[in-house]
Amino acid sequence: MPDMRVHRALAQAGVASRRAAEGLVSEGRVTVNGAVAAVGQIVSDRDVIAVDGRRVRAEPIRTYMLNKAMGVVSTASDPEGRPTVLDGLPADVRLYPIGRLDIDTTGLLLITNDGDLAHRLMHPRSKVPKTYEALVDGRVSSATVRTLRTGIQLEDGPTQPAAVEVLERRAQGGTWLRIEITEGRNRQVRRMCEAVGHDVRRLVRTRYAGVGLGGLARGQHRLLSSAELARLDAQVGATR
Ligand code: URA
Repeated sequence: MPDMRVHRALAQAGVASRRAAEGLVSEGRVTVNGAVAAVGQIVSDRDVIAVDGRRVRAEPIRTYMLNKAMGVVSTASDPEGRPTVLDGLPADVRLYPIGRLDIDTTGLLLITNDGDLAHRLMHPRSKVPKTYEALVDGRVSSATVRTLRTGIQLEDGPTQPAAVEVLERRAQGGTWLRIEITEGRNRQVRRMCEAVGHDVRRLVRTRYAGVGLGGLARGQHRLLSSAELARLDAQVGATR
């Protein structure tokens, strides 16, 4: 665990939300090494933290990037026995994915045991940018690109403005688009493209909340660097 404020350490350990944990500190219910903690106090791995006299054991916090392969489900376990995004990741801490990708979407998925970070990134108010590359059927006109950018009426409401550009028009009739959205509605990119008459053949997420896949190969995972973790914190306005 890097050095961080005591309420964040409590939130990461799953004691309470960050705000509620700050309340526990200000009520004097939290101790660090036996002394009542001050709001905003910095703690490290070596400190013994307790709430109402009961010791809080924090797991080491880990956040991974996975380049999800095709046919893999974005849940911790699958009743149908299909491969999941947790297969192949270390099992010493309880990990779960931050959001979901469809079974046939590939690319960047963050996987963590930092409940506080996951909650903040998935909160609709955070509006974290998510970038996709989509191979769609047919030739996409400039007018259609403008429509996708402005917003489309879907059955669950209009989409927010999106950044959309044509990456490549293929001779065989498909078009590669880059689409950046700040919402995370179910099958959103597929539904946006279908709504303008272009079914999605392939969908790859290349960036999420300011971090990119880089050279990570399909099916592989790695821990995020501290620079990447700092970028995620900046996205959700968090301080350590
Ligand atoms: N939009 C989709 O349609 N599918 C995904 O997996 C992610 C975003």
